[in-house]
This record gives sequence, C-alpha cells and structure tokens, in this order.
Amino acid sequence: MTQIGVCYYPEHWPRERWAQDAAQMVQLGITWVRIGEFAWSCLEPEPGRYEWAWLDEAMEILAKAGLKIVLGTPTATPPKWLIDRHPDILPVDPYGRRLGFGSRRHYCLSNQTYRQACAQIVTAIATRYGEHPALAGWQIDNEYGCHGGADHTYAPAVRDGFRRWLKVRYQTIDALNQAWGTVFWSMTYNDFDQIDLPAPTVAETAPAHRLDFYRFTSQEVVDFQKVQVDVLRTHSPGRFISHNFMGFSPSVRFDHYPVGKDIDVATWDSYPLGFAEMWLDELSDEARIEYARTGHPDAAAMHHDLYRAVGRGRFWIMEQQPGPVNWARWNPAPAPGMVRLWAMEAAAHGAEVVSYFRWRQVPFAQEHMHAGLLYRDGTRAPGGDEAQQAARDLAILAAHETNHDRADDRVKNARAEVAEVAMVFDYQAAWVTAIAPHGQDFRYFELFFLFYNNLRSLGLSIDIIPPGEDLSGYALVVIPTMPLIDEARVRALSSAEHILILGPRTGAYDPNFSIPTNGAPGALYDLMGVRVRRCESMRPGLTRRAVYQNTTYDFHRWTDFAEPGAADIELIFTDGRPAITRHKQCLYLTAWPAPDFARAWLLDVARQAGLDVQVLAGSLRRRRRNGLIYYLNYGAQPVKAPIPAGADIVLGAPTIPPHDLTVVKDPA
Ligand code: GAL
Repeated sequence: MTQIGVCYYPEHWPRERWAQDAAQMVQLGITWVRIGEFAWSCLEPEPGRYEWAWLDEAMEILAKAGLKIVLGTPTATPPKWLIDRHPDILPVDPYGRRLGFGSRRHYCLSNQTYRQACAQIVTAIATRYGEHPALAGWQIDNEYGCHGGADHTYAPAVRDGFRRWLKVRYQTIDALNQAWGTVFWSMTYNDFDQIDLPAPTVAETAPAHRLDFYRFTSQEVVDFQKVQVDVLRTHSPGRFISHNFMGFSPSVRFDHYPVGKDIDVATWDSYPLGFAEMWLDELSDEARIEYARTGHPDAAAMHHDLYRAVGRGRFWIMEQQPGPVNWARWNPAPAPGMVRLWAMEAAAHGAEVVSYFRWRQVPFAQEHMHAGLLYRDGTRAPGGDEAQQAARDLAILAAHETNHDRADDRVKNARAEVAEVAMVFDYQAAWVTAIAPHGQDFRYFELFFLFYNNLRSLGLSIDIIPPGEDLSGYALVVIPTMPLIDEARVRALSSAEHILILGPRTGAYDPNFSIPTNGAPGALYDLMGVRVRRCESMRPGLTRRAVYQNTTYDFHRWTDFAEPGAADIELIFTDGRPAITRHKQCLYLTAWPAPDFARAWLLDVARQAGLDVQVLAGSLRRRRRNGLIYYLNYGAQPVKAPIPAGADIVLGAPTIPPHDLTVVKDPA
C-alpha cells in the first residue's frame, strides 16, 4: 500500500508548535516524516560542538504521535565555519571560478576533506539516532547534481581524481591516446599527469575526453555516497537508506543506476507544474498552457518508472508538489484535484510513500513563496485537504490490491511486477547525444519521452530497464536509441524474446565513442541485419516523407541511411530510403519519428505483440498494478472510463470528473 508522508523542518518553527504539527499530521493521514536534511548548522553550530537537544525533542514528539521518521544527512549544506576552514570544499565552475557560500550544494564531491567532514557529521548523527525506535530510514544528502553544482566541478581535486581514474581505466597513456583519438589535432599526451578536465578550450575538446568525464563523475557520486552508506550501515542496523534524486534534465548529468545499487530505496522529487513550465523543450506554448495546472500526464509517470528501476523495484516520491512552487518561470496553482491525483498516479506505479514538500509554507528565505500543505499561519491550505483525501483513497485501494509478490529477476526485486512493455533508459545515450548532437534538436530525453508518451497513451504500462540488463519476458521492448554499444548491451538486446524496437543512431559508436569500422550498428549487425554508413540531421522544415497506412507523415530532425542486408524493408520514404527495417523480431526505425506517426505505428506493433491496447482519449491514462487498473483523467472535461466488461469499480465512478480517477479490479 502507498502511504502518505511529509517533509518537515522543526528548526524553522518555535518548539511550542511542534506537538500541534505532529497531531495535525496524524489527523491528515500522514504516517511518514522526513526531517533534518539541511540542518547541519543547527546540529553542529561550531566545530565539534553538537546541539542535539532540539532534534531529540522533535523526534520524541514525532515518535509519540506515531510517525515514522526518515532522517536526512545534512551534507547538501556544509556550514559556514567548515567552508571558512576549508574553502577548497567549494565547487569550481568550468572557468575556474570558485562559487560562494550562502545557498546550498556548495561542495565539490571529489574533495577528500569534505568526504571526511561528511563521515564525521554522519557518524555523530547516526551514533545518536541510528537506533531510535521511530527512525525507519535515512536519506543521504539531497539531489546530487541539482543546480548543476556538485557533480560536475572543475577543482584541482577533481582533475587529480580524473587522472587517477583514467590511469586505472587505460593503464597506459598510449591506450588512452588511442581511445580518445588524440592524434587528431595534435592532442597526444605523454603522461596521465598532463591531462586536464574538459573545461573550456578554444574549440571543443575530444568527445571521448568528455564522455570519460561523465563516466568519472558518475563514479565520484558513487564513491562520495559510499562513505555515508558505510557509516549508516554500521551505526544504524536494519534501517533503509535512500537518496532523493531530481527529475528531468539535471538528472542525466550522472548515471543513476550505480548510485541506486548501494542504497535500498530510490526517491525522487515530483513537481509536475514546475517541470511543465521549465523542462520538455519541445512543448509549445499551447501545450504549456494546457498542462500548466496539471503537469504533463506522462512526465511524473515516466520518472516513477525510471526511479523504480534505479531503486531496483523500490521507490518513493520524497517531495510531491503541494501547490504553487517558487522556482519556475511562472508558478501557477494546481487545478483542484491534482495534488491528490499525483499521489494516486504514484501509487499506480508502485511508490511506497508519497511525501509532500512541505508541511507548512515558510515566511522567510529562498523558498518563502513555495506552498505547503498548511499556510504560514498553520491553517490548512488546499493541498492539505487533498493530501488527506489521497490518504483515505489509498487505504481503500489497499483493501483491493492482490498484493501478490510476483518474483521478478528483471528488475531484481521480489515486489515488483512485470509491466507490458520494457523501455531501456540509457544515461550514456544522453551524454553521447549531448556531446555529439549532430543536429541541435537531437535531445535524448525528448526522444525517450516521445516513445514513452505514445506508448502510455495507448494504455500500456511500462517498466524501465537499465541498459545491459536482461530483457526476456516482455512482449515488447522499446529502445528509442542506444548509440553506444558494448558486449553487455549486445548480449542484453539479444535476450529480448519478442518484439524489439530500436530507434535512430542505435549502434553508432563503440565504447570509445568511435564509429565502428564496418559502420553502424557495429556489433549489432547480426541482430539488426542492416548497415549504416551515413546519416543526416535536418533543420525544422527540412523533412523526409513516408506514407503509412494511407496517411502521409513528415519526419524531421534525423535519418540514418540504412543499407539492408538480411533485414527486410517495412516502410520506405518517398525518396526510396528505408524508414523501418525488420530482421526477425527486431524493428529498426531509422528516423526521428513524428509524434502522430509514432502513435499509429506503435499501436500496430503493440497489437502484433498481443498486448491489450486501449487508445485513450486526450489526457486520459491507464495503468495496471497489483490487481487494479487505474484510469486517471488529467483533462479539464469529464471522461467515460473505458472499463473492461464486468470489472468492479473500487474507487470513483464510470464517468471520471476532471482531474480525478476511477480504479477497477483487473479482471485479467
Ligand atoms: C527540491 C528540493 C527541496 C526544495 C524543493 C522546492 O528540489 O529538494 O529542498 O528546494 O525542491 O520545490
């Protein structure tokens, strides 16, 4: 069952208020509270002088009220005294400028002094509270990579670490020169100690140099986190450990899968309205207005599926938008019903907890314009009422969940069940296409979302799988693109048992970011049965055309020029080039699809795969989970739920009001 939680900052409020806050939380149906993740200067105001009394009392009060606590380690906010002692902790931007104190995430995660300081504060906190009866789990730090801060920094410590990492990876400098192609432009190195970070240069740095920087910084996030994981495992046995990740573009700056491997639960921050305003570059102004008060119907859903994969089956929403946020270009209020509906969508994807950010709007500092479940004066804001409704509805659903533990190796988690479609989300693909976009609108996240969105509007439930993992058991596997191929990836793709869709640029590179000698798709040739030696990107307005089932579609942005070997041509452009090829069960789409084409084609392929497709009207969505089918209406008009004949309604009504849902027992 999905439960409701909240993010709470007792240090922002007078002590006299805490007991009332806790009582109000319980009354509202909240069972989880996250605290402490930015409280370092309150816990250790001076080096080595700890102030525990306030947190002792706050935890006591929350515990007495029966609330379960997630304690954040405060390492996203090193205090002023620490920075003054060790200014080298501060991050350095690509131009070598040190960023200042006075906000958050002001640290360089490669800095060894900082790692030691983190170990110290976390040891102190974990020693004191690690076995507190109300403490159920930990959150390490907060949002690696957010604000473009701690993950990509350019301090000397990072450069030194990068050199060491390269030495381990390549062993000899000749091997590195070979892998990076340094003979080009006379970039040859004689020694690892000559290598700099790929910071600004006159022209661009070598693509493989930049790709390795992404790989290295991903490993640095893992290593930084591991210090705290080890402390917490030692001092706080039996408690889960989580990290709270970000949504959208900042989230592709490091590979999340290995970071997820060391923890027990992946959590993420869902701010659907802020995201609809700030991210998704392809959204038109009209679409931004349509989604301004609801969020895009697939944006949170996609992240739920992604973070379920990062958490190997276990995920939470650690921060759920409760009303207007403060940080987007514009910050509208959610449509009535959405604060509840977002929680229900998370439940439909298997979230263990939906925790709202934040309990009460704070009158001061950076986020004074950010809504809470309560207003500043402690009275209920609309989000509070909706969170309460969500808690009640989730309890109703829990009574009808079948709760079967379908063992599932694919996501290495005994609790998760297998969805109908698998999609592979690949951080390396995001980096490679950002480093070498070739066409300025070849954006990985957008291509992924295009497929996700269209599959979901066909009523399909999706699992996201990390690259290189087993794909057997799914009727349909969709990989929007996987430019970089290595042995593990080839093996995994060959494990797809049914229909496999591969998108443009798949197999374009070997692990060194070089074009395979025989052309793309390199080691995937046997699987795909085509060769690609040429490709092009197209500016808006430049198109290639194909007629599919009597409808003409224009393709923009990108085409691979496929030369079929063993593969057949399934769809041809009007200029005679292959648009889609098929080799056995492997379909290869050579071009960036127009959204309406993607939808028509995916509908056919999903039917061929024998899936229970349901073409959904407008902003209606469907998701199956745990014996239930959820129909969620993100639109402003009532919609009749396309319920299967004879299915019992457990929540809602046959006609779904705007921004509401209906849930039925899954007859399947
Ligand atoms: C999150 C962050 C929170 C708060 C929130 C505001 O990204 O984790 O601390 O800043 O955004 O929406």
